[in-house]
Amino acid sequence: MNARDSTVARTPVVESRLPTVGTTIFTVMSALALEHGAVNLGQGFPDFDCDPKLVDAVDAAMRAGLNQYPPMPGVPILRERIAAKIEALYGHRYDPATEITVTAGATQAILTAVLAFVGPGDEVIVLDPCYDSYAPNVTLAGGVPIHVPLAPGTFAPDFDRIAAALGPKTRAIIINSPHNPSGTVWSKGDMLRLAELLRPTDVVVISDEVYEHMTYDGEHQSAARFPELAARTVVVSSFGKTYHVTGWKIAYAVAPAPLSAEFRKVHQFNVFTVNTPMQHGIATYLADASHHLDLAAFYRAKRDRFRAGLAATRLQSLPCAGTYFQCVDYSAVSELSEDAFCRWLTSEVGVAAIPLSAFYADGREQRIVRFCFAKKDETLDLALARLRRL
Ligand SMILES: Cc1ncc(COP(=O)(O)O)c(C=O)c1O
Repeated sequence: MNARDSTVARTPVVESRLPTVGTTIFTVMSALALEHGAVNLGQGFPDFDCDPKLVDAVDAAMRAGLNQYPPMPGVPILRERIAAKIEALYGHRYDPATEITVTAGATQAILTAVLAFVGPGDEVIVLDPCYDSYAPNVTLAGGVPIHVPLAPGTFAPDFDRIAAALGPKTRAIIINSPHNPSGTVWSKGDMLRLAELLRPTDVVVISDEVYEHMTYDGEHQSAARFPELAARTVVVSSFGKTYHVTGWKIAYAVAPAPLSAEFRKVHQFNVFTVNTPMQHGIATYLADASHHLDLAAFYRAKRDRFRAGLAATRLQSLPCAGTYFQCVDYSAVSELSEDAFCRWLTSEVGVAAIPLSAFYADGREQRIVRFCFAKKDETLDLALARLRRL
């Protein structure tokens, strides 16, 4: 390049669509954990591998030449097996042809649903603390996130506050059970109450159910179980969470045909299709229901091991009815802010956690941090040995 070229080269100044978004706390804490050799119980992913049978199934699909574009909504056999799974568990039959779409992870499914249904000025209720992509998704669509806190202490839905937030501009509500970060699970009564509240409205529900197979004290109350809710809901689940393959980024969204049709319009001009051999491999693996049905027992054992260990520390465990997250109250140990406590815990004690304040739009402080227990037993034991020193 000569001097003249460099004078015409010009990178446009762009106005950020997400001006308040920076590096996430997950990236920050993971980097800090690496720097200090801390046990990383921060970010939510397993430190153990998936079942080799799943890898074999994907490998077999690749070797069988299943490597070209699949149909836009997903390979038929996978959609058929998703339909069968949901019907067996929740008693609702989604039509694989028109109501099931395979996506590149749940995060993409949620963004796709938001872009499909939310327009400029539309309001979307999000229940804080919540997964960090929800509000930026709404902002990208030109909508306005309306943050309604879950009940302090229990993290149960506060229906009076949700009712107060509902208005003529409300286009959607995003719910998440089992809930990240609190580990709370919505009851049947909660789902019926939501259905009743939305009855007179045209509000779409986006139900993030990525931890559907990790409930420890009863059955998962999928929106798919409740006909009135199913009629207005996009249910999202993630194979990444269920099969210990978060890096594969493969999930699905199910919704009544008119909602799925709009969802697919956005999906086809975004990712278009999701990688073929993994869809075939997962379809093969999904045929054996024990792979998802046994997950709750697997994680219940880890939860119980971790909670038993925490009982010997000065951290106070909050209830954990679902997910692979355990929240603790550290007020007996420190008066630091949640962020400062997590940094201190990582650098001085050698265990990384995530501050709950990171999941709130108002960044409120409750002296609660979140650990992820999707880890090998030896990883959990090492973390617990360090936490006992507190
Ligand atoms: C509540 C919730 N929703 C969605 C996701 C993302 O799922 P995926 O990896 O399939 O995009 C996560 C991952 O941490 C999550 O906790």
